[in-house]
Amino acid sequence: MTGDIRMETAGTLIDCLMRQFPFDVSAEEFVRNPYPWYEAARRTHGPVHRTRSGDVVVLGYFEAQAVLRDPRFGHGAQTALEQTGYGVPARTFLLTDPPGHTRQRERVRRAFTTREVLSLRRRISDLAADLVARAARSGTADVVTEVARPLSARVVADLIGVPEDLRDRFTEAASLLVRGMDPPELIAPGTRERIARARVCLARDIGVALRRPGGTGLLRALARDTDGRTARAETVATCAQLVAAGYETTVGLIGNGTHALLEHPDQLARLAAGGHSERVIAVAVEELLRFDPPIQLAPRSALVDADIAGTPVPRGAVVSVLLGAANRDPRVFPDPHRLRLDREPRHLAFGLGSHYCLGAALARLEATAALRHLLRRRPRRTGDQVTYSPARVARSVQSLRVRLDPGADARP
Ligand code: HEM
Repeated sequence: MTGDIRMETAGTLIDCLMRQFPFDVSAEEFVRNPYPWYEAARRTHGPVHRTRSGDVVVLGYFEAQAVLRDPRFGHGAQTALEQTGYGVPARTFLLTDPPGHTRQRERVRRAFTTREVLSLRRRISDLAADLVARAARSGTADVVTEVARPLSARVVADLIGVPEDLRDRFTEAASLLVRGMDPPELIAPGTRERIARARVCLARDIGVALRRPGGTGLLRALARDTDGRTARAETVATCAQLVAAGYETTVGLIGNGTHALLEHPDQLARLAAGGHSERVIAVAVEELLRFDPPIQLAPRSALVDADIAGTPVPRGAVVSVLLGAANRDPRVFPDPHRLRLDREPRHLAFGLGSHYCLGAALARLEATAALRHLLRRRPRRTGDQVTYSPARVARSVQSLRVRLDPGADARP
């Protein structure tokens, strides 16, 4: 059992979770490597499984695609302030349904254009180069804490326009909010309280930042577009969503991706042979997203009586779409547990359909820059163990120490 779960409640907890999932998601081995568990469940139950609680777990690629594209599956809320199908307020448009979702998503999309993201390319590359150079100075470094976290924190904070004095509080809250996506039974009461407090503090800080004159980034764009109390609450929820969605996920991609490459020296050598060019690394990032995606589960509820590939799903049933399992479906990815950088990119790591990730271009840019600068310094394993965050929905390496060539400035 992980330290986050109380031993005295372990029996009831496992029983409760085993009703919802066909494997023990509370197990430490599951946190370290959920893929053999997905594989065993798919072999036993097929791509769609009705669990003992009557809920549904989707393990197959085509079935995951079908659910994510199907408007019969959603969240049961139309605005960020309504209740979702799970009985909690949506709080963000990630958990709302059309038409409310469409309007809120469009507001962000307008303020978050591809041109805006691409204009950050040079700055992201410079930031990554500096962080890697600093991390490499002593010859060994923690890729997660010294490169991935500061890079992701700075990029998201700049993009949103978080004032300097509030940045540390924002990133701390972001990590906690992502942890709050797990089933509550998996979160210790103390952590649950910290998550609730972080939610309130983040909303208050965003309110403060929105009122300050001369703001920058998305906050300024959204503030201009905000009038009335509901719109203001929605703007606060939207900004909180962007901080939460954009920070820990990108950290996960860089950490999980570096780890996957170190575990597959033949693929690492392939990148070196390609001269670590931006184009080659950008292609590699797609396979890293398939292989070990930072978001493992997209939750939905059946809004009406429905079916998934012939399996009936009654209205109200919770549907857990396991993106990490779908990405290893052997019908689509032969030899799915092998990292192969020459695969056609077809992963579901950014979701699909109406909720498709709005930050995909930004995450790709950050991961490409970070990996490019890291790989130029020939990362090698140390004897230290890799550790994982205790979160299940968001999966990320928490600490990954590597040897790096200090060398001269490796900037291209
Ligand atoms: C590797 C990094 C990332 C991964 C793996 C990722 C993954 C995802 C996934 C799977 C969804 C869909 C969830 C669902 O359908 O239930 C999603 C939605 C979203 N993501 Fe990302 N994300 C990443 C980075 C980012 C970044 C950097 C941002 C913004 C700064 C961002 C903003 C969003 C937003 C706003 C949504 C909600 C879209 C909607 O509901 O319409 N993400 N992301």
